Amino acid sequence: MRYVYLIFAFVVIAAISVLGFRGTTTTKRPLEIFDDMDHMPKYHPQAESAFFADGRTDRLPVPGTVARGTFEPDAYKATGKKGEAYGNGFPIEVNQAAMERGEERYQIYCTPCHGAAGDGNGRTAAFGMTAIANLTAAPYTDMADGEIFHYIGHGSRSGRMYGYKEKLSVEDRWNVVLYVRALQRAANGSAKDLTPASKEELGL
Ligand code: HEC
Repeated sequence: MRYVYLIFAFVVIAAISVLGFRGTTTTKRPLEIFDDMDHMPKYHPQAESAFFADGRTDRLPVPGTVARGTFEPDAYKATGKKGEAYGNGFPIEVNQAAMERGEERYQIYCTPCHGAAGDGNGRTAAFGMTAIANLTAAPYTDMADGEIFHYIGHGSRSGRMYGYKEKLSVEDRWNVVLYVRALQRAANGSAKDLTPASKEELGL
C-alpha cells in the first residue's frame, strides 16, 4: 500500500514538472536534454578563427571555381542568340585545341546517349531510352550554332534531355558545338569533300 502513495506522489510531481510550467517565460537558458542541433561547431560569417593562419573564417574560393551564374559579357557567346534569334558563328577561337577539347567533353557527356558518331545510338539506347536525337541528320544539321549551344546548356525542348550548364562551361559548350558540327560533316560526307588527288585516284 505504501508504494501506491509513493507512485502517486511521483506521478503528480512528474506531471507538474512536465506540464505545469508550459507557457511560462524565463530569461534563463532552458534545460537542454536533447539540443536538436541547436549548437553546432560551425563558423559564422566574418567571425574569428583559430584554425586558419590569418585568423579569418571567410575563405576565398579555390582557384578555378566556376561561378554558377554566367558573367560572360559577350551576349551571343553566353546565350547563342543574336537579338531575338539564334545566331551562327563561333564566338570562340576555332582551332585544333578547341576541337579536341570539344571531342573530349562530347565523349564524356554526350556519347552515352547520342553515341560516339552522334547518330543517337549510345549505350542508353540498349537500355531502353527511346527517341534520342540523331544529331548528324536534319533538323539538327540545319540548326543554328547558337541553337545547339542553347540546348546543350538548357536541355532539349521536350525536356527529355537535361541541360549541361553546370557541367560544361560556356567555352566548353561552344567546343562541343564545334565537335557536333564535325560529326555532322563526317556523317554527311560526299565526293565534294575529297581532295583532287583522291578524286583522281578513285576515277571521279
Ligand atoms: C541522357 C541522355 C542524353 C545525353 C547524355 C545527352 N543527350 Fe542530347 N538528347 C537526348 C534526347 C533523348 C534528345 C531528344 C529529346 C527531344 O527530342 O526533346 C536529345 C536532344 C538533343 C538535341 C536537340 C534538342 C532539341 O530540343 O531538339 C541536341 C542539340 C542535343 N541533344 C545535344 C546533346 C549534346 C551536345 C550532349 C552532350 C553535352 C547531349 N545532347 C547529351 C538525350 C541525351
